[in-house]
Amino acid sequence: MQPVLITLEEFIYQRQKDFPFASGELSGLLRDIALASKIIQRDLSKAGLVDHILGKTGSVNIQGEEVKKLDDFANNMLIQCLQTSGECCGVASEEEDTFISFHEKNRHQKSKYVVLFDPLDGSSNIDVGAPVGTIFSIYKRVSPVGEPCTNADFLQKGTEQVAAGYVMYGSSTMLFYTTGAGVNGFTLDPSIGEFCLSHPDVKTPNSEKTYSCNQGNYHSFENGVKEFINYCQSSEGKKPFSLRYIGSMVADFHRNMIKGGIFLYPNTADAPKGKLRLMYECNPLAFLQEQAGGKADWGGGRILEIQPKELHTRTPVFIGGENLVNRLLENLK
Ligand code: AHG
Ligand code: MN
Ligand code: MN
Repeated sequence: MQPVLITLEEFIYQRQKDFPFASGELSGLLRDIALASKIIQRDLSKAGLVDHILGKTGSVNIQGEEVKKLDDFANNMLIQCLQTSGECCGVASEEEDTFISFHEKNRHQKSKYVVLFDPLDGSSNIDVGAPVGTIFSIYKRVSPVGEPCTNADFLQKGTEQVAAGYVMYGSSTMLFYTTGAGVNGFTLDPSIGEFCLSHPDVKTPNSEKTYSCNQGNYHSFENGVKEFINYCQSSEGKKPFSLRYIGSMVADFHRNMIKGGIFLYPNTADAPKGKLRLMYECNPLAFLQEQAGGKADWGGGRILEIQPKELHTRTPVFIGGENLVNRLLENLK
């Protein structure tokens, strides 16, 4: 018998019907992001062929990183899709200095939401055709509806997210998201251009087999982290763990979420306050990880409870199956 095919569109519609007072805006936002990601995927798949989309733009973003052409393309595509539909009142992006309010473009809009994103995560992987991703996070605004959005709408704790997710552009393109009622994953069927439900109600296994980190930084990790890595490598009473590190957080996180494991990016000599961005990378993935039964901590508490002081703030992050994260936190004590 043919398996039942449930598209993302159909799934969102079904879920919306479960909430009688839902206005449909949130569903609209997820559709906008899915559309942008299909266009990004299309151009990414040509990256090896088309000269003009590979390489650098020549500019540097607010975080001091070189902006690749596809970073720019993905950023503009997300902004365009979200602005055109009018389902959110503003966005903040890893590639933008400050948030962008859509108020000037559409003074009549009554949207309640803001969206934050890392348009292309792991973009240094593009040159070699390895997986990259898009990460997004959605909040209800705290300023009055109908007014221009403010910094406070974006600087909310991760616990306030109403939805979050990512798209991974790998050997297949997958979109995983949560609205706080578990995690569901969809795989793009390129022949029909639709994301189809492939991973319903994802739960991270508590397996202890894999760890992911940039171990080149080992010597600048704090002692607790080193001890944890030594434990992963030791063969006393168990098999040593496998180290898997792609260098694209979405791809490393995605594998661990499905198969079990832990991803860590601690403080290093180069990044004494952590490298990864709280608002665009850590909060959305922490929300997903907790919804899949795992844990995300910065070494002193839940990632989701950090009060952000600025948009581009960074944090150390330890995220994955609960047992492994707990073990690491024990080492850090
Ligand atoms: P981005 O491409 O959005 O700047 O993110 C890159 C991030 C993350 O995806 C990855 O896990 C990490 O940087 C890799 O950093 P190292 O090269 O320092 O390991
Ligand atoms: Mn990133
Ligand atoms: Mn990025």
